[in-house]
Amino acid sequence: MPSPSSQRNAPIAAVVLAAGLGKRFASATPKVLHEASGRPLIHHVLAALSGVELARKIVVVGHERERVQSAVRAVAPEAIFVEQPEQLGTGHAVNVCSGVLEDFDGGVLVASGDMPMITQATLRALVEEWRKSEAQVALLTAKVSDPTGYGRVLEKNGRLEIVEEADATVAEKLMDIVSTGFWVFDRRSLFDALAQVTTDNAQKEMYLPDAALVIQRSGGKIATVMSSDETEVMGANDRAQLAEVGRSMRQRKNLELMAAGVTIVDPASTYIEESVEVGPETVLRPMTFLDGATVIGSGCRIGPNVQIVDSIVKDEATVTFAVVKGSEVGERAEVGPFAYLRPGTKLNAGAKVGTFVEVKGSIVGEGSKIPHLSYMGDAEIGRDVNVGAGTITGNYDGETGVKSKTVLEDGVLTGSGTTLVAPVSLGKNAVTGAGAVVTKDVAEDEVVMGVPARPVRKRKRKTRDNA
Ligand code: UD1
Ligand code: CA
Repeated sequence: MPSPSSQRNAPIAAVVLAAGLGKRFASATPKVLHEASGRPLIHHVLAALSGVELARKIVVVGHERERVQSAVRAVAPEAIFVEQPEQLGTGHAVNVCSGVLEDFDGGVLVASGDMPMITQATLRALVEEWRKSEAQVALLTAKVSDPTGYGRVLEKNGRLEIVEEADATVAEKLMDIVSTGFWVFDRRSLFDALAQVTTDNAQKEMYLPDAALVIQRSGGKIATVMSSDETEVMGANDRAQLAEVGRSMRQRKNLELMAAGVTIVDPASTYIEESVEVGPETVLRPMTFLDGATVIGSGCRIGPNVQIVDSIVKDEATVTFAVVKGSEVGERAEVGPFAYLRPGTKLNAGAKVGTFVEVKGSIVGEGSKIPHLSYMGDAEIGRDVNVGAGTITGNYDGETGVKSKTVLEDGVLTGSGTTLVAPVSLGKNAVTGAGAVVTKDVAEDEVVMGVPARPVRKRKRKTRDNA
């Protein structure tokens, strides 16, 4: 047995197992690329690993290795890939890393790529236990309400036994302490032991847990850390478990936000991805979906029936019955009901986008309103503009495929049903009559009407008496 006395300060190398296809998913996409909370399962595992100081990060790939590698590279460009050409078991998957770890003197932290709920704190605790116990192996265990599918951990005569579900007797299957798939091994003990692991079991595979048992048999020690939260060791082995994992992740996120001062009227119907931030005193009403790189400010009212993707919503804004993608909603701005903000839209403070309105790639100035039935594409709208019901930008030339800009300067009023044929700009305080088709630029204060719209007079000013 190599002496583990130098473990206290030993470096750690991680090995993430991600070679399996996941037959139980019945999918052409490898298991670790299926998504929970908007990200591939393996991204969650890598995020948890980033809480541990790692000297190396190795990912074992096999099925669809190109796809898995590119997904891993997106978040962990430093990862080293080792191919496991045939999936002969978790022990075999670790064993194919013997070469890249030959010169490594330290602990090998093994993680399963299909266990996305694991936390940084738990992985740190497992590494700490390995360091201070000076056992050759530290194993993360958990007590779970339904142990089906896990390897069971039992103690017999002061020794640990780890029995896979497929090999377990009826009595062993009743045990509810399980092996979670997270381990730290002394590097040398691990590969010495793997050399002795056989495939003499129900699945004819090389089991990684058997390496720990070999170490124990030759006089080494297995330390255990028991997770206090059974949801963090949930695996996604099939689509039913994937849905369960998704539900638990959402619940964890919702609880976190509520503890930080966000009101969630009905957590069961509120879907917030892990990556999303929400400020205190914001109220999220049912059927709210917040995805991706979304940041919601404080004191906002969001929902019911809202999907916000990769967007910023500033303090005290209101969004109801709306879809918002790649946009920014300013302070106290109002969106909906029944509005669609498409990428590149920015509503400044107090702006309003109302009912059956679609806005794309446009800036809407402070206090400006687009209350009903409009499409604004590639428009630059100044302050205090009122876009009349049914006003639309003709920003796209169907013949040439060219998109052009529309500019509405401060104080413009458009009459109902105005068509703005871009490129076109309306000067400050210009007015269009109902049904105007504006094909030429309009001067400041000009009132235009008709098809195509022509200047008819200068704009009247509101007086104090008739304002
Ligand atoms: C494994 C453990 C079990 C534990 C459970 C916790 C073994 C033998 N069993 O079972 O004790 O309770 O995790 O979730 O270790 N993989 C490879 N190459 C292979 C086989 C698997 O890369 O040859 C990868 C898989 O893609 C997966 C991970 O290793 O990411 C775990 O394999 P999986 O088949 O899901 O093991 P479980 O049956 O869940
Ligand atoms: Ca698994």
